[in-house]
Amino acid sequence: MSALDISNQSNNRNLSWKVDRNRQWTLQLATATSAYLLFMTLSGLSLWLLPFSVPSQILVFVHTVVGVVLFLPVSWYNLRHWLVYRRHQMAHIILLGYVGVVAVVVCNVSGLVLTEQALFGRAISYSLDTIHTATTSAIVGFVLPHIVLIAVRDGKAQVLGILEAVKWHGRRVAMYLLALLASCVLIVYASQPPRLSVIRI
Ligand code: HEM
Ligand code: HEM
Repeated sequence: MSALDISNQSNNRNLSWKVDRNRQWTLQLATATSAYLLFMTLSGLSLWLLPFSVPSQILVFVHTVVGVVLFLPVSWYNLRHWLVYRRHQMAHIILLGYVGVVAVVVCNVSGLVLTEQALFGRAISYSLDTIHTATTSAIVGFVLPHIVLIAVRDGKAQVLGILEAVKWHGRRVAMYLLALLASCVLIVYASQPPRLSVIRI
């Protein structure tokens, strides 16, 4: 390997300053992906832990529709994000990202197959359901710290307005999450059966 190759390699490993971090935090696709992961995790955990009911059936519906609609944009964000940071030197935050992205991909793909089985099959596969639930825990354990640790560090550093970008990201994610939760509440409310009152003659 020539000296030039070695020098190029070490330059590639120190590209963090070249990435416009403010821009990365404020990308529409980044906020949509964070909101997606938060909503899918919260709704999925509710489906798993709460007793069966009409609201939980509606939640499965919204969970599945959001999953089908955002599957491709979220996968595209993950690929794009990896392309931006793939040459960065391995560190604990990047390791969390790699394990996290594998969990997201497996969870999303198993979700799509579960949907296909629920729509066209005789029953959903128990083992696939277990994979879907286990990868949800992995998302909480790896993707959440990946983002939160960076956000806390960037927030403390207060460099080049990055704190503003992190806050903007957080506000947008909260807004999208509230909109999705409000839609669930509205659908539950709209699907209440009419109350019949007894008319005495
Ligand atoms: C980050 C993404 C996702 C997370 C964290 C997640 C999480 C979960 C969890 C924890 C459950 C409850 C499992 C149980 O009750 O045993 C669930 C159920 C379900 N999810 Fe997801 N999910 C995700 C993505 C998707 C996608 C992309 C789809 C499909 C397009 C999907 C479709 C479903 C379906 C159909 C169920 C009901 C399965 C059943 O009846 O047990 N999910 N999800
Ligand atoms: C589910 C998958 C992932 C999500 C949702 C995610 C999300 C994020 C977010 C929101 C940020 C802060 C904004 C930014 O700089 O882009 C970030 C930073 C970063 N991510 Fe990820 N990420 C994921 C996977 C990965 C993977 C697989 C890698 C491996 C190359 C990675 C490497 C990084 C790096 C190097 C940073 C900047 C860290 C720093 O400044 O020290 N991420 N990620």
